[in-house]
Amino acid sequence: MCGIIGLVAKEEFGVRDELLKGLKRLEYRGYDSSGFATSNGDFVKTVGEINNLLDNVDKTLKARTAIAHTRWATHGGVTEINSHPHFNKEKTLFVVHNGIIENFQKLKEDLELEGYEFISQTDTEVIVHFLDSKIKQGKSVKEALLEFEKTVKGTYAILAINKDEEKIYALKKDSPLALGITKTGFVLGSDIYAFSDKTKKAIFFDDNELAEITAEKYAFFDKEGNEIVKAPKTFEWEEAKEQELDFAHYMIKEIKEQPKTSKRLIESLHTLQKDKLKEFAKLIKDCKKLFFIAAGTSYHASLIGAYLFNNQGIDARTMIASEFENFSLVDKDTLIIPISQSGETMDVVSVLKEIKKAGAKVASIINVPYSTIQRHSDLSIETLAGQEVCVASTKTFTNQLIVLFALAKELGYEMDIEGIPDKIQKTIDENEEKTKEIAKELSQKRDIFILGKGATYPIAREIALKLKEIDYIHASGMMAGELKHGTIALIEDGTPVISLIPKSDLSMDSSTKEVEARGAKTIIISNNGGDFIVPDSDDAEFAVYSTMIGHLLSYYIGVELNLPIDKPRNLAKSVTVK
Ligand code: G6P
Repeated sequence: MCGIIGLVAKEEFGVRDELLKGLKRLEYRGYDSSGFATSNGDFVKTVGEINNLLDNVDKTLKARTAIAHTRWATHGGVTEINSHPHFNKEKTLFVVHNGIIENFQKLKEDLELEGYEFISQTDTEVIVHFLDSKIKQGKSVKEALLEFEKTVKGTYAILAINKDEEKIYALKKDSPLALGITKTGFVLGSDIYAFSDKTKKAIFFDDNELAEITAEKYAFFDKEGNEIVKAPKTFEWEEAKEQELDFAHYMIKEIKEQPKTSKRLIESLHTLQKDKLKEFAKLIKDCKKLFFIAAGTSYHASLIGAYLFNNQGIDARTMIASEFENFSLVDKDTLIIPISQSGETMDVVSVLKEIKKAGAKVASIINVPYSTIQRHSDLSIETLAGQEVCVASTKTFTNQLIVLFALAKELGYEMDIEGIPDKIQKTIDENEEKTKEIAKELSQKRDIFILGKGATYPIAREIALKLKEIDYIHASGMMAGELKHGTIALIEDGTPVISLIPKSDLSMDSSTKEVEARGAKTIIISNNGGDFIVPDSDDAEFAVYSTMIGHLLSYYIGVELNLPIDKPRNLAKSVTVK
């Protein structure tokens, strides 16, 4: 949540074309407001999407050093004053921050006693006044930051600049931060998206590291201020190129990319990632307890993982990461499998930090290379879906399922993984028009129920999540068997119920009939006749194809309702706060 970027270059760069274009690549991290500041003392902040900021910046504005921020509000409403960068009274020191300063109230009171006046409601403003106070006492910015680190409680990736100094100061704990090395200088960013169009060479900050970066060089320091040596890493990454967006939205582009992205993953599981896959399966076989941890769409993938592994005689459970500590016990024989697109979800990262203390092993399934979760893992398989821009996950979810299928296959589950890309294509080709038609009807509904069982229960939940986040329709994805224990009371004449019926499951037929008998308007997704017919497969694979229908439906409902499909209200793609 919140994206930060900093640029420092040998030659002047266009603020609009270089800095803010980079910031736009981080917009999926939050889009409540945005702003930037340069070392010349220029700054602009605006509420709403980054396009509003672009409209307010002079095209000719140039700088050699600048920082920028896109916000997902935590402390303080969505206003221009609360937008970053925050600055001192003289407007000579500027700070952008991703994270939460937990003891900001106490710090604020102390600073107010020193005479500092606060103009925003944010936790971040304490950072700039704290640094300003120390600098005015004669300390360097580096010393002030080291002192800040000793005083503060919370999570932070911070970039700071001083007017008339061509240098960026950076500090990180818990929130992600990386330094990209380019031909013209350096780019700091919340993640590799910030600069992967410019370079594939980067240094990843670890916790409690501070850095000073000029156009010529960078220097990293530990929390005592001693210089440390960090080696750049090279990463592989497929860009989502904005100029290639020949679809109305990224969501539909990403749905339709799946024959290609799934094929790429399957090939890699046979080649580059083959050994890792085998090692991963061995960890699964050897552990005594196995927990998946995840959030949102990735949690739904983990439910399928638990279904498949249990099927193969492995006692596997899954847990929503934010509730893990309340419902699970971990020891040194436990294997934890985090699943995450971003690899940065704070709920997951926090669990990893705790369970490592108990000596548990971590084998992760991640999309973004060198992300925090991957760097906290003993072993990691990459889903290779490439950059996913739409806040709601589609192609990454499918690839997460494919990794789980491949692992289940290593454990003995029989399945034709190679056939999946073609069947995905077939599912889209044969059903897209119908999804448009049914989306028209569903767009007028207030409540939608989705029923599943076994491998399709997670899909019922995934479809419900998409209907909520993309279309703002109340939707409930349920275990079909549980419906009659309460929720069936909500079924009235015309209530839409989507039923996921793989051909093997007769009991799903009965649950469908039960709601039809009470007036529900059922929509059947099946591989054996129904409103949407998907390719023949077993139940686990059926999960992939029925998801495609659900994702297409929620996309076209969003189109009908003219909603901001790629950037739904209140959401962010990478949730880096608890
Ligand atoms: C956010 C996003 C969801 C995503 C979830 C988990 O809530 O809006 O689309 O599924 O985070 O993200 P992860 O990156 O860990 O898969």
